[in-house]
Amino acid sequence: MKKYAVKIYGDPVLRKPVEPIDTFDESLEEFAADMVHAMIEHDGIGLAAPQVGVSKSFIVIGLPVNADDPDDRKIFTMANPEILEESEETVVMDEGCLSIPDITEEVERPEWIKLKFQDLKGEEYEIEADGIFARVIQHEIDHLDGVLFVDHLSPLKRTLLRGKLKRLHEDSKVRAEEA
Ligand code: NI
Repeated sequence: MKKYAVKIYGDPVLRKPVEPIDTFDESLEEFAADMVHAMIEHDGIGLAAPQVGVSKSFIVIGLPVNADDPDDRKIFTMANPEILEESEETVVMDEGCLSIPDITEEVERPEWIKLKFQDLKGEEYEIEADGIFARVIQHEIDHLDGVLFVDHLSPLKRTLLRGKLKRLHEDSKVRAEEA
């Protein structure tokens, strides 16, 4: 098992567009398992490949399904996810991101989506999602386009966060030099 560190705001890989997944073999299964592990270890409910430094179109989601047991999750692994349709109706929810520690902000997004993706064998699925599931999927697919949730905030909110984001950026540069 490979242990991945989560890349932090300011790391250029978070802004780099991804390549599609075109090989569905054992190494993809291993990568998926490593990403699920990293997501759970960092206490996230979703993780996109660029966040572990891999510019590939791949996301994992771990939705809590039992309020009494946070470890009880439904895991999804999605290669080449793509949103096909979205509702006009939007909803505002608090969002955070493992790559932007200690910041949560309200983000407005479509309430419902229809998407397609491929599983670890390359089989294609089309599903609909709403609620927290739709929210996490949209957040993770944004990562594949180099988009972060803070990009959705109003200019005023972004200005208010500028100091915090700059510090994260500076920290990530220090970490890159140390690596
Ligand atoms: Ni994120």
